[in-house]
Amino acid sequence: MPPTIQTRGWVVLTVLTMLPMLTTTLAPPADTTTPPPPLDEVVVEDSGLCGRKAPPVNSPIVELAWERNTSQVNVNCPPKLRTLFPSLPTSPPKSRKTSPTHSIATSGVGMRGVILNLTGIAQEGSGGQVLVDVEGCGCVGMAVGVPVWAEGVTFAIHGSLRLPNTWWLGSEGLREMWVRVSNGLGMEGLCEYLPPTLQTLDLSYTPLGELILEKRCSPALQRLEAIGSTLTQVSLCSPALTTLYVNGNEMSGDMDWAGCVGGLSSVMYLHASNNYLTSASTCNWPALETLELRDNWLTSLDLTTCPPRNLTSLTASKNYLTVAPSPLPPALVLLYLSHNNITELPVFSRVIQDADFSHNSLSRVGDARFRRARKLHHLNLAHNHIKEIAEKDFYGLKKLHRLDLSHNKLASIAPSSLLPLHHLRHIHLHHNHLTHLDHRDIHALSTHAHALLHNNPWACRCQMLAALVQLQSCADCKHKRVALQCKERDHLQEVTALLHTCLQAIKSTQGLQDESDEDYSEEQRDKVDDSTGAVLIVPSLVVLIAIAVSLAIGYKMYRKHRRALFNTFSPCCGWCGRCAPQGINNNNHNHHHHHQEASQLPTGELQDSDTETEM
Ligand SMILES: *[C@@H]1O[C@H](CO)[C@@H](O)[C@H](O)[C@H]1NC(C)=O
Ligand SMILES: *[C@@H]1O[C@H](CO)[C@@H](O)[C@H](O)[C@H]1NC(C)=O
Ligand SMILES: *[C@@H]1O[C@H](CO)[C@@H](O)[C@H](O)[C@H]1NC(C)=O
Ligand SMILES: *[C@@H]1O[C@H](CO)[C@@H](O)[C@H](O)[C@H]1NC(C)=O
Repeated sequence: MPPTIQTRGWVVLTVLTMLPMLTTTLAPPADTTTPPPPLDEVVVEDSGLCGRKAPPVNSPIVELAWERNTSQVNVNCPPKLRTLFPSLPTSPPKSRKTSPTHSIATSGVGMRGVILNLTGIAQEGSGGQVLVDVEGCGCVGMAVGVPVWAEGVTFAIHGSLRLPNTWWLGSEGLREMWVRVSNGLGMEGLCEYLPPTLQTLDLSYTPLGELILEKRCSPALQRLEAIGSTLTQVSLCSPALTTLYVNGNEMSGDMDWAGCVGGLSSVMYLHASNNYLTSASTCNWPALETLELRDNWLTSLDLTTCPPRNLTSLTASKNYLTVAPSPLPPALVLLYLSHNNITELPVFSRVIQDADFSHNSLSRVGDARFRRARKLHHLNLAHNHIKEIAEKDFYGLKKLHRLDLSHNKLASIAPSSLLPLHHLRHIHLHHNHLTHLDHRDIHALSTHAHALLHNNPWACRCQMLAALVQLQSCADCKHKRVALQCKERDHLQEVTALLHTCLQAIKSTQGLQDESDEDYSEEQRDKVDDSTGAVLIVPSLVVLIAIAVSLAIGYKMYRKHRRALFNTFSPCCGWCGRCAPQGINNNNHNHHHHHQEASQLPTGELQDSDTETEM
């Protein structure tokens, strides 16, 4: 190599020079083991970042550490300011005065910035990683050359970083590069500074503005991350790239980021959440398996023009979508579309396992949405405007484990509509307008599921409420169970209190007739009298006879089974397998029917046993 070029090469080492000039004059080295030229030949020129604008700093303090297969260099430049305030604690003057210029980090010209020389760093174990952590030194320049064993380099720099061309010389193959530079790279065109052997490049949290890789740049690059890097433009011609993370940038428009035909043809994992994208399409992205577009401004998401055959996971929550992709990609397993403005569910495919449509504008479930969704495990429809569940809405959901319908406007759930959910473990129905749940559904659910049911205006029917309380109780559930309330003539009642009254009432009618009236509250007794008086005029005689007969039978039975009854009776009677004897139920049954015909009275329902006897 001619000496002039070597001298020029050392200009790069200082990194206090004009980089554009260097790129044109630096010839590729003939031999990677060429010894570096002596320092005193370094030519120094001012450059914007590392020159006069950078404040002077004290001599760098260098610490070396070897940890977990990583050779670590910590460089710290104590601020000059400290010397102006002698009363402040300062680092020992000795260390500053006598600290020899360390061979790894030397001060830049005029004490502006530091120059790193990584060539001599010793290896840790069998690890090939070098970590450079620089604090308080302003501009950091790199000398040309890294250790032969280096496989990965990390620059964690509080300041800015200037890399000379071919700074990686000496390594046998630098595969990984992590850059965290708070003030950016201060250089034009990333391509020149990337080792051709690079497979992983992470530029996250380093202000870049744009990310442009032409075909010649890092042809082996497989993984590229630039999270929070102030990107407004991305253009990649990286046919080997499989993973791209550009979350948290300022990208707008669509996802048309291919710098050449096929430039993104291998990308399987794309994470572009937290940008300002307004439309997205899978054209140019044929190999996508994971697509993450959360928190953008998407109004359109086109998966049909270029169907992504291998897409298994799609996240586009927190956007402005009004239409869900349809048909769904054939391999899609996970679908997260919460916090949009979607009004219709798509038809679910055979393979889908997890779907989140919470916080949308669905007003119904729709016909035959889940006919083929045999593998759907979780379905979240919370925070929509769904008003009712039709009988066949959930047909096909054989494997559904968790169903969230909370915070909707559900006023009715058609009887038997929950029966197909054989594997349901958790159902959330809280914060709806539900008054009834069919006993068959309750019964089916109670054998395998737990429910959240609070904040619904349940009808004050003892039998149903007892079953609901039972359905809601769950010892090992993480959710805190909120007590149920029921609504009677616009009046909310605590269900626990009501059930207590129910129990008392049932006990009373189980033969202790004379005491029974005392167990009722005055108000409740009045209600009973009002309604029964009004409606039972004609059939009253028949009814009275029937009551008398059944009371007689009931009392007999009661005496017979009194002990067992008091030992085992609980409010859950019916679905928990602990029931009052049949005779007593029949007794109540008669009572009940009259009251129910009359009105939905609490006391009528207090004695409600029909559900049980009908079952
Ligand atoms: C870089 O370090 C190597 C070995 O430690 C040394 O031989 C060389 O002179 C250094 N170069 C500079 C510019 O300090
Ligand atoms: C780290 O070093 C140990 C020995 O020092 C070695 O066994 C291990 O494989 C190394 N790990 C990596 C990831 O290089
Ligand atoms: C989809 O996946 C299959 C199997 O992994 C693979 O052979 C095929 O090349 C992939 N398709 C695309 C377009 O990458
Ligand atoms: C949702 O879409 C409807 C029309 O379908 C529109 O009226 C409404 O403003 C949209 N809501 C939001 C939050 O975008």
